[in-house]
Amino acid sequence: MAFSIRTLNTVEDFHRAEIAQREIWGIEDDTEVVPKDLMLIAQKSGGLALGAYNESHEMIGLLFGFLGQTDEGHWKHCSHMMGVLPAYRRAGVGEALKLSQREFVSKQGIDLITWTVNPLEGVNASLNFGKLGVICRRYHPNFYGDMADGLNHGLPSDRFEVEWWINRRRVEMRLQEKEKRLRLADIQKNGAHFLNSTVVKNGIRLPQNTNLNTNAATLFFEVPADFQAVKAASMQNALAWIEHAREIFGTCFQNGYAVSEFISEVSDGERRNFFVLQRDLSTILNKG
Ligand SMILES: CC(C)(COP(=O)(O)OP(=O)(O)OC[C@H]1O[C@@H](n2cnc3c(N)ncnc32)[C@H](O)[C@@H]1OP(=O)(O)O)[C@@H](O)C(=O)NCCC(=O)NCCS
Repeated sequence: MAFSIRTLNTVEDFHRAEIAQREIWGIEDDTEVVPKDLMLIAQKSGGLALGAYNESHEMIGLLFGFLGQTDEGHWKHCSHMMGVLPAYRRAGVGEALKLSQREFVSKQGIDLITWTVNPLEGVNASLNFGKLGVICRRYHPNFYGDMADGLNHGLPSDRFEVEWWINRRRVEMRLQEKEKRLRLADIQKNGAHFLNSTVVKNGIRLPQNTNLNTNAATLFFEVPADFQAVKAASMQNALAWIEHAREIFGTCFQNGYAVSEFISEVSDGERRNFFVLQRDLSTILNKG
C-alpha cells in the first residue's frame, strides 16, 4: 500500500486531523478530540503534527506531540497521540509516522520521546517494543480517569509511560533489524520465570495465577492477544486483565525491573503475546 507522511501546514490540514481522530478512536463526545488550535500552536512552538496520506491525498493517519521535560529537567518530546484509520492498520503506517517523528526530534537535538499507552493493546506493544525498541519502567493506574471514546470507554485508563531513547544503540539496531528477535521457543529453552499463568475459557484467554516471588534476571508476563475482543465478550474479564496487569507491573517496577521486549507469535493457530522484563537498564539500552 502506497502512502506518504508530511507535516500538517494549513488550518484545513488541522481540521482534517480533528475528523480523523473521531473515526480512529470511535469518538462521539467531542471533549475527547484534541482541538485543531492546540495542535497548531504546539506545532509552531517546537512540537510536531504529522499526517499520513493515501494516493488520493486523503488523511489515513496522524501523530501529534509537543515539547516537554522529565522530572529531572531533561528535554523530551511528549508524543500525545498517534492513530491510523481502521482500514489502513497493520500496514506499517504507524511505524512510518514514528520514524518521521524520530527524525524531526533528533534534528532538534533531543534524544528522548515519551508517550503513554495501554499495555494490554497487542498491536501497540508490537510496534512500540518490538519494532521501535522503547522501554518502560512506569505504570500509571487510571491515568486519564474515565474516557468517553469507543476504545477506552467503561474501563480504568491504566497506562504505561514508555521511553524511546532514539539515539541509543538498542534503537539503532532494532530499526536496522540487525538483532535477532527473541522467540517463545528461546524462552522455554532457557527455563524462564513466568509471572502468570493463563487459561482459555469460551475462546478467550484469561489470567489465572500470579507468581511474583522471584529474583530471576528475566521475567515473562502473558497478556491477551486481542484486548478489544476480550472487552467485547465481557467487560468483567477485561477489568480482570487490567487488575492483573496493575498488580504485576506495579510490583515488578517497584522491584527495579523494566519492560524490555515484547513477543507476539502464532502457535497452534492462536496468537500469544508476552512482555519480557529485565533488571539492568543500561545494558538493555546499550546492547547490540
Ligand atoms: C496503534 C496503531 C497506531 C498502530 O499503527 P499500525 O499502522 O497498525 O502499526 P504497524 O503496521 O506499523 O505495526 C503493527 C504491528 O503489530 C503486529 N500485530 C498485529 N496484530 C497483533 C496482535 N493481535 N498482537 C500483537 N501484535 C500484533 C503486526 O504484525 C505489526 O508488526 P509487524 O510489522 O512486525 O508484522 C493503530 O493500530 C491504531 O491507530 N490503533 C488505534 C489508536 C491507538 O491505539 N493509538 C495509540 C495510542 S495513542
